[in-house]
Amino acid sequence: MASGKTVIVTGASQGIGAAIVQAFLDRGYNVVATSRSVSKAGFTASSNLALVDGDIGQATTAEKVAKTAVDKFGSIHHLVNNAGIFSAKPFTDYTADDFHRLIATNVAGFIFITQLAVKQMLSQGNGGSVTTITASLADNPIAGLPASIPMITKGGLNAITASLASEYAKQNIRFNAVAPGTVETPLHKDTPGDFMKTLSPMGTVSDAKDIADAVIYLTEARHVTGEVLHVDGGAHVGRW
Ligand SMILES: NC(=O)c1ccc[n+]([C@@H]2O[C@H](COP(=O)([O-])OP(=O)(O)OC[C@H]3O[C@@H](n4cnc5c(N)ncnc54)[C@H](OP(=O)(O)O)[C@@H]3O)[C@@H](O)[C@H]2O)c1
Repeated sequence: MASGKTVIVTGASQGIGAAIVQAFLDRGYNVVATSRSVSKAGFTASSNLALVDGDIGQATTAEKVAKTAVDKFGSIHHLVNNAGIFSAKPFTDYTADDFHRLIATNVAGFIFITQLAVKQMLSQGNGGSVTTITASLADNPIAGLPASIPMITKGGLNAITASLASEYAKQNIRFNAVAPGTVETPLHKDTPGDFMKTLSPMGTVSDAKDIADAVIYLTEARHVTGEVLHVDGGAHVGRW
């Protein structure tokens, strides 16, 4: 039990992010939860939960979130980069606007807050961790589910996870990723359930808690860094 540590969770209003927030609260963490509309989601701010609204692709939101963590809880020990958008379509159908939105949320939304969290962890001098939600599709494309441009962002996040794990190993700041397959969340509200079950060899669909459990493991796994943990019913192991 890591009671009293502070964690920032992005994309916290629903789906995987909301499950991650709840999992950390249940384990006694102080949590700064952020998304564009998190103050209107099901959470109530309290002595161990701060809610910060804002677009994570904007540097000003990252500044507000980091400042809230330090002002309210005095520290940042862990960061979970969960905010992300996704759309599946043929490569030639992606528009310039799709590309810019994906880069803003999935990539800039990682960079700004991670820079501030790492700076704070360095100033505290006792390590920390950054866990990022990527996607199993980044290294295991599935025929019939084309998602080429979103996977530039998710593959890039897996790559920077390895780079930063190396760069900050001596300072004991760990960087890991969780790569989900298909997860039952509002992101898939229009995806037929029977189709979702075909997307892994196990023939089952993850729920948000499966991903939150993996995030908790990596946050507390003091000797694990540079890892991409697939929670995908075996989708990354190949053809089925
Ligand atoms: N569900 C899956 O099958 C699946 C599979 C692989 C990977 N993932 C990844 O897992 C993560 C969470 O997915 P999910 O299924 O829980 O998605 P979701 O239900 O669509 O939730 C996405 C969350 O991100 C927030 N968000 C979106 N754009 C934002 C922005 N510009 N600034 C700040 N917050 C923003 C949303 O809150 P607001 O609307 O309040 O901003 C929401 O809380 C994503 O990174 C996704 O790519 C999901």
